[in-house]
Amino acid sequence: MSKARALSGIQPTSGSFHLGNYLGAVRQWVELQNSHDTYYCVVDLHALTAGVDPAKLRDATLASAAQLIALGIDPEKSTLFIQSHVPAHNQLGWVMECITGFGEASRMTQFKDKSAKSGSDRTVVGLFTYPMLQAADILLYQPQYVPVGEDQRQHIELTRDLAQRFNATYQEIFTIPEGYILKAGAKIFDLQDPTAKMSKSASSTAGLIELLDTAQANTKKIKSATTDDGREVRFDEDKKPGISNLLTIHSAFSGRTIAELESEFDGKGYGDFKSAVAEVVTSHLDPIRERTQELLQDKGELTRLLKIGAEKAALVADETVRKAYDALGLIPRG
Ligand code: TRP
Repeated sequence: MSKARALSGIQPTSGSFHLGNYLGAVRQWVELQNSHDTYYCVVDLHALTAGVDPAKLRDATLASAAQLIALGIDPEKSTLFIQSHVPAHNQLGWVMECITGFGEASRMTQFKDKSAKSGSDRTVVGLFTYPMLQAADILLYQPQYVPVGEDQRQHIELTRDLAQRFNATYQEIFTIPEGYILKAGAKIFDLQDPTAKMSKSASSTAGLIELLDTAQANTKKIKSATTDDGREVRFDEDKKPGISNLLTIHSAFSGRTIAELESEFDGKGYGDFKSAVAEVVTSHLDPIRERTQELLQDKGELTRLLKIGAEKAALVADETVRKAYDALGLIPRG
């Protein structure tokens, strides 16, 4: 039996991934490589919806690909590619726009949140059609699974609806994908505001652990993480969100259970505990940062790997576009 296929994408929105990206998503992508036929895509076209600085986008796209490899996405096992290298994404994206209702698209909560923040004149149309491009990203590869965070559930639901609608109206072309919602245990919160998800859109970067930041900078952030007035290192998300978040982070890297950590730090103060968290985080991130830098210094090799990925991806994607266009009555060029 051939392996089930899984596909996911990550936006190149900043030079460095943060701990939430890694523990909440990419780490599971790495594991899936052993059991699934995996496709991973740096979605640079989606990043255009946030408004771009070209030099930053260029750097962030390459840095994202390099970090994925450094974190364990193996270009031999996975098809790793940059979205804009495969024009089929735009080709099928338009088709998805043409089968999506305006009201349906208007109900996407991510669109509503983002457009409410900037006002309708400053909200680009690309933000509105973002979920249809995402549906195309997915359906092109006929994956059974889409490993994403909880926040993407609605986009996956829309993708399923569009696939079913196309299949029912034209021809049975698309596999109906299932969201593979990543473990909630890996949810990482902001170090300064441990009730908010760790995110690069937070008002300050003080609560954000960036993978490519120096060990000193990250140690400092961990040591100044918000805690509570008590003294006990105990997991209690309601009463002790800061300490609970640090326990989750320690456990994710050390592989020790929360219970083991609670008993190890029983009677010790927050200071000792934070030092231990900083140590376990930076010792894991040091080699990842170094490997990323090596890859970014050898752009020729990185470009070569991404080209192979794009060629493999295009083979599958172009075939899907061909079938979908044909089913729609678009005449082949011949
Ligand atoms: N919207 C996703 C996010 O913000 C990124 C994304 C784009 C994606 N295309 C995708 C995720 C296809 C999974 C599959 O995280």
